[in-house]
Amino acid sequence: MKIYQITGGFPLGGKIRVQGSKNAALPMMAAAALQEETVTLQNCPRISDVFCMERLLRALGAKTEWEEDTLRISCGSIGSDLAGSGESGKLRSSILFLGSLLGRNGYAKVGLPGGCTIGRRPTDFHEMALEALGAGITRTEQTITAYAGKLSGNHIRFPKVSVGATENAVLAAVCAEGTTTLCGCAREPEVQWLCRLLRRMGASIEGEDSGCILIQGKKKLHGTVFRVPPDRIAAGTWLLAGAATRSVLELDGVLPEEMNAVLKVYRKMGGQYRVTGDKLFTDSTRVTDGVSYVETAGYPGFPTDLQSPLLAAAATLNGKTLVRETVFEDRFAAVRQLMRMGAKAEICGSVIGMEKSQLRGTRVTACDLRGGAALVIAALAAGGSTEVEQVQYIERGYERLPKQLEQLGARICVTEE
Ligand code: EPZ
Repeated sequence: MKIYQITGGFPLGGKIRVQGSKNAALPMMAAAALQEETVTLQNCPRISDVFCMERLLRALGAKTEWEEDTLRISCGSIGSDLAGSGESGKLRSSILFLGSLLGRNGYAKVGLPGGCTIGRRPTDFHEMALEALGAGITRTEQTITAYAGKLSGNHIRFPKVSVGATENAVLAAVCAEGTTTLCGCAREPEVQWLCRLLRRMGASIEGEDSGCILIQGKKKLHGTVFRVPPDRIAAGTWLLAGAATRSVLELDGVLPEEMNAVLKVYRKMGGQYRVTGDKLFTDSTRVTDGVSYVETAGYPGFPTDLQSPLLAAAATLNGKTLVRETVFEDRFAAVRQLMRMGAKAEICGSVIGMEKSQLRGTRVTACDLRGGAALVIAALAAGGSTEVEQVQYIERGYERLPKQLEQLGARICVTEE
């Protein structure tokens, strides 16, 4: 078992190149299955969720090849059945193959998707959208199967905003016959980036920034070369790590316009920043105060993925920070671990209160990806040594985290037990 051992209490300093976005890359990989040529993704993060998605593509018969951070996916002739691969249950995004394989082959079978344990993660909106496009869906305890002689455009309204269901519907609709309108869609940048990629593959899509997406189905899509955008959640994680340790950091290769909600919170804490092109210069030396109230929300609101990292930073700040989690029902595992490090936290329904705390190193367990990142942030700020176990959760989404931290001056070593 791999463990991160971190000795905290030292500020970080220097620059970091922010990785490509996990949540943009994964649906793009599913999109590659829609066409018979090669989709080349540059700036693709080398993280375990991407490798898992790559294994799923290979299980379908796709050829994949890496050259540094460029991933080429060739889908000349591919199958439709992923249920036997044993990989579907390892990540949530496996369900996106339902949409793309239906569009490509008229049939798709996946194992039940997995992903981080952060509360109930049903698939009803995904299924509703695919059914509305003409697919028949059957479920067993282990699999979801979708089939459609022909997909036909339709008008679909999502009852609640869902990133994954929006992406799945878009993936299926781009090759459906006729016009599809999707309303109540997620407006997350990752949805928008997927639409941009699909347009470059020949799809006709409009309105992805408005919550209402209009798609004219095309018979055939083609390959392209596309750059995966920077990971706004990884960038936000670095920002909050800087805040917790009162560091001066330069984040390179970011899109600050996708980070407005977190930058607003950072400013309220006393953080200062300056943007020059794709560089974000952050100065946390005057960070002092907690933020009275933050509510997580779909984009452009404060991202649920940064809720745990924010709480870790809040444990170092004056006053009480209240955070209400509105997207997932049980994304609090990290708070319980932070309390083991001395965090004065209280969970009251969906609201977490975090007070300034004397964080001290101890052994803690990462229970999900962003919660794991929060523990690393707390460890960097804590007195003494913290051991973070179950780091495979962290490595699902953060590229070379220990190396990057080391380059910033953190005292971290990776041990095997
Ligand atoms: C995506 O998950 C992200 N994952 C998550 O990032 C992120 O936390 C989440 O969006 C919200 O921003 C990927 O992009 C791979 P949802 P997704 O469908 O698509 C309910 C990370 O740490 N819902 O928008 O699975 C659901 O229960 C991860 O990088 C239904 O009820 O999230 C939740 O309460 C974790 N029925 C809400 O919608 C459905 O069919 C939003 O979930 C689908 C969702």
